[in-house]
Amino acid sequence: MNKMNYAVFFTILSFCILPVLAQDNKKQNKKTSNNRITNLHDFMEDYTKPAMQYFKKTGDRVYLNKILVEVPSLGLDDQREDWKKIVDKSLDSGKAETSCKSCHDLYKKDYKKKFRKREIQIPESLIGLDKEIRAARK
Ligand code: HEC
Repeated sequence: MNKMNYAVFFTILSFCILPVLAQDNKKQNKKTSNNRITNLHDFMEDYTKPAMQYFKKTGDRVYLNKILVEVPSLGLDDQREDWKKIVDKSLDSGKAETSCKSCHDLYKKDYKKKFRKREIQIPESLIGLDKEIRAARK
């Protein structure tokens, strides 16, 4: 190969490789960037609601119990204590499902209006549970 051919060859080669590298980089970013960030609405839709559906279908509260203990930590500073009271009361009675209405009646409307976009982090202990519940729910 003469010099010119080498140049052409490497130019073409780099055009083939660059997109692959870029793709890899994107994947890496997605993995390392914090994909634990969500908001309360989406958390409820992704975790709490399927857990409730699972309970209705099977009578098993395992997912509800697991999720609800974490819910107060997702609340606003000045509401967290009361959220914990509501949740503890339902868990202590062995009926986690009663907490939904208790909390929603008092807090949902206002929260939705003022804090719909507020970011929360999915608690460490629940990561991946959304997928597990959806698979189990089928
Ligand atoms: C301690 C408080 C609390 C508890 C307990 C709670 N939620 Fe929520 N939930 C909220 C708040 C606040 C919102 C509004 C979030 C928003 O719209 O930004 C909400 C929103 C939702 C939504 C979104 C759709 C809608 O109705 O606006 C679903 C679905 C939901 N909750 C399901 C449940 C279920 C099922 C349970 C019980 C197993 C439950 N939640 C228990 C506080 C709670």
